[in-house]
Amino acid sequence: MEKTMVKATVAVMATTAVVVSGVILYQKLNRKKEGNAKLARAEEMVEELERTCASPLERLRQLADAMEVEMHAGLASEGGSRLKMLLSYVDSLPTGDEEGLFYALDLGGTNFRVLRVQLGGKEKHIVKQESKEVSIPPHIMIGSSGELFGFIASELAKFVAAEGEEFQVFDGRQRELGFTFSFPVRQSSIASGTLIKWTKGFSIEDAVGADVVEELTAAMDKQGLDMRVTALINDTVGTLAGGRYYDQDVTVAVILGTGTNAAYVEKANNIPKWHGLLPKSGEMVINMEWGNFKSSNLPITEFDRALDEESLNPGEQIYEKLISGMYLGDIVRRVLLKMAEEAELFGDTIPPKLRVPFILRSHDISSMHHDISPDLKVVATKLKENLGVINTSFETRKMVVQVCDIITRRAAQLAAAGIAGVLKKLGMDPSSVNHQRRVVAIDGGLFERNKVFKNCLERTLSQLLGEEASRFVEVTLANDGSGVGAALIAASHSQYSRRGEL
Ligand code: BGC
Repeated sequence: MEKTMVKATVAVMATTAVVVSGVILYQKLNRKKEGNAKLARAEEMVEELERTCASPLERLRQLADAMEVEMHAGLASEGGSRLKMLLSYVDSLPTGDEEGLFYALDLGGTNFRVLRVQLGGKEKHIVKQESKEVSIPPHIMIGSSGELFGFIASELAKFVAAEGEEFQVFDGRQRELGFTFSFPVRQSSIASGTLIKWTKGFSIEDAVGADVVEELTAAMDKQGLDMRVTALINDTVGTLAGGRYYDQDVTVAVILGTGTNAAYVEKANNIPKWHGLLPKSGEMVINMEWGNFKSSNLPITEFDRALDEESLNPGEQIYEKLISGMYLGDIVRRVLLKMAEEAELFGDTIPPKLRVPFILRSHDISSMHHDISPDLKVVATKLKENLGVINTSFETRKMVVQVCDIITRRAAQLAAAGIAGVLKKLGMDPSSVNHQRRVVAIDGGLFERNKVFKNCLERTLSQLLGEEASRFVEVTLANDGSGVGAALIAASHSQYSRRGEL
């Protein structure tokens, strides 16, 4: 009897063991199946992203054409296009002869810089320069105009007070400043202009419509600073000036940094909306404000639409939101969030930090994108540091890199289309025969530090221009146009040179 019971118990146990291991195997297989399904879904999402971001050459050509059409419309009449095509009142660019001590103030992002530059004329060029960078506290970026300019003027006053003996202002002359203000401004002269709107995360309501030179001058007066603002310029215009200082064929300047924009030299009689006297040079630098460009041919995805809707300036700066450094990281974050929600890209819980806007910066996506380690170690570290995601699989890391790649290449291709449009407006396209050397000076961290972006932009631009025309076009990295360029324009528009004293 006992024996029978033991036998029965052993049989039950054996059966149970078989059933349990069967269940485990089933669960494992199921999990694998589920895992495979999630992986397949994630891969599908990447493919879908690639499709919606695709910018084949034909589409880019249409965009270049649209850019050219909009440039004409913006020059024809005020408000004629989304491209403001703003007059800069810069009708003469530096020649290299500029001499003396000039200051510059560069405001356009979360930091501003103050500079002093001692110019030594044709022979010596820039003899010495010094600068200081100050970050703008976030509450000031969305506070009042008085606070912003008061803060800037007080830092500028400290900087001027520390001027060393090696810097020499000409006897009896007032110090002069070139003010780079990298937002859309409607100018009425070289040293005055009202802010049209803020971009790049600034939002100071009472400054809109105000003359920013008057605001700065009032703040400098309060600090007891005896200095005159002789030029108000956009960073693109400064970049053009900085480029010209060394190479007289620089005709176009582009910023690809936190924001994006372009400026170029236009013939004065090609600007119907300008009713003033024609400048002696017959030319005028135009600040395009191309960040506001929009076309039905732009490859806009659901992620771009959501980013725009939730931004401080919905409906505005659409081209900028697809291209510039301020936004690329956040587009990638939005894609990854959807992949985490729908395909469990980072496991069965969604990393809470992935929901925080702007937590991924463009330099983060650039480091992940440029990771050449065999196991994508940098990607793993960045995901851990920025999003708190640990233990990612190689497959996941590879997909993150793919997403960074798609978004970065799209940006570079769109920027190349914009440049091709400007060059076309200047008479440079594959069909033109009369070629002349043209140099495009580009400044900004995205172009300077992201190699994939830079190479892709240059390659796409050559493809768009065609072999023949691209032999005449050079793209160069400009050096600190918004700083030194502003000092140079202050020099070439000095109150003393205008009186024939220089
Ligand atoms: C501004 C431009 C500026 C560009 C690059 C844009 O957001 O509207 O004025 O040139 O950023 O800094």
